[in-house]
Amino acid sequence: MSGKKTMKALVLRKHGGLDELEVVSDHPLPAAVPGHVVIRVRASSFNYHDVFTVRGMPGIKVPLPVVVGLDMAGEIAEVGAGVAGWKAGERVLVNPLNKTKGLMGEMLDGGMAEYCLVAADQLVAMPAGVSFEEAAALPVAYGTAHRMLITHATVKAGDRVLVLGASGGVGTGCVILAKHLGAEVIACTSSPEKMHRLKELGADEVVNVKQVDFSKWAIERYGKPQRRSYEGGVDVVINFTGGDTWHPSLRCLKRGGKLLVCGATAGYDPKEDLRYVWSFELKIIGSNSFYDDDLRALMALIADGKMRPVIDKVLPLAEAREGLRLIQDREVIGKVVVAP
Ligand SMILES: NC(=O)c1ccc[n+]([C@@H]2O[C@H](COP(=O)([O-])OP(=O)(O)OC[C@H]3O[C@@H](n4cnc5c(N)ncnc54)[C@H](OP(=O)(O)O)[C@@H]3O)[C@@H](O)[C@H]2O)c1
Repeated sequence: MSGKKTMKALVLRKHGGLDELEVVSDHPLPAAVPGHVVIRVRASSFNYHDVFTVRGMPGIKVPLPVVVGLDMAGEIAEVGAGVAGWKAGERVLVNPLNKTKGLMGEMLDGGMAEYCLVAADQLVAMPAGVSFEEAAALPVAYGTAHRMLITHATVKAGDRVLVLGASGGVGTGCVILAKHLGAEVIACTSSPEKMHRLKELGADEVVNVKQVDFSKWAIERYGKPQRRSYEGGVDVVINFTGGDTWHPSLRCLKRGGKLLVCGATAGYDPKEDLRYVWSFELKIIGSNSFYDDDLRALMALIADGKMRPVIDKVLPLAEAREGLRLIQDREVIGKVVVAP
C-alpha cells in the first residue's frame, strides 16, 4: 500500500466522444504548493468549450489525462507557502485562466473533482448572498457575456439586440444583461420550450430558428435596413454560432449596427459578404474571455438581487457526463452545474 491520498474526479483519458470521460475515485488528491491553494470544490459548471476539449481542437495539445471543468467555486481547504491574503474556509470563485499554464480543465486539472489546486492569483472572493452554484455558473459564459456587452460598452438602453443561440450559457447571459441595460431583446432559439423559457427570462421577442429565417423575420418586423438613413433592421446582433448564421446576421443589421462575436459553435470560416460591412457601415466587434472585474461585477449584481444566472440542472459528479451530453445535444437552457 502506497498510502497515497485519492479523490473522485471526472477525467478525460483521450480525445473522442463523451465515452472517453470517466468518473474515477483514484485521482491523486492535490496538495498545496507554494503560491497555490487547494479548494474543496462545491460547484463546477460545463461550457460548450468542454465539448471541444473532449473532441480535441486543432493546435491545442491537452496533457491527458486531465480533469475537465473550467468553472468552479468552493472553499479554501489548504493554503500553500507564500500565499498572502487568503485563509482556509474562505468562499472563492476561480478565474479558470492560469497565467503560466493556460485554461484549467484543459491545460491543467479543472473543477469537476472533489478538490482542485489553484494558483492564488486566480481566486476571486465571493460576496455573501451568492451561492456556490451561482458563482460556478459565471466565469466562461456570463463573464464573456459581461465583457462583450458591458465592459466593451456595446449595448445601450433602447437598442434592439438580437441574440442567436440565446438558450445557452453565453446566450442566456446576453439576454439577461441586455435586458438589464434596458435593451429590447430578440432571443433566437431552437424549440418551443426554449422560446417559452426565454420569454420568462425577459426576452421581448422569441424566434424559432428551426422554423423561421431569423434575418427575414427581423427585416419583416423592423423594416429593411437603409443605406442613407438609420431606419430598419436591428442595432446589434450577438453571434457566437458562426457557420451559416453569419451572412444572415449581416443582412438584418441597421446602418452603423454592431455584430458582436465571441465564438463559432457551427463553424469559424463562414460565407462573408463585405458589401454589407462597408455600405451599411457595420462594426464587427470581437470579444474574448473575461477578467476578474467582470466576475466581481456579476457577483455584485447577484448579491444586489439584480440578476440570477440561469441554471438548468445541478447534477452529482456521478452523473456529470450526462450534463455535458445535454450541452452537446442542445438540450439545455442556461447552465449545467455539477456539485462534487
Ligand atoms: N471567446 C470566448 O472567450 C468564449 C467564451 C465562452 C464561449 N465561447 C464560445 O461561445 C459559444 C457558446 O458557448 P456556450 O458555452 O454558451 O455554449 P452552449 O451553452 O452550448 O450554448 C450555445 C447555444 O448555441 C446554440 N447551438 C448549439 N450548437 C449549435 C449549432 N451547431 N448550430 C447552431 N446553434 C447551435 C444552442 O442554442 P439554441 O438551441 O437556443 O439555438 C446552444 O444552446 C461556443 O462556441 C464557445 O466556444 C467563447
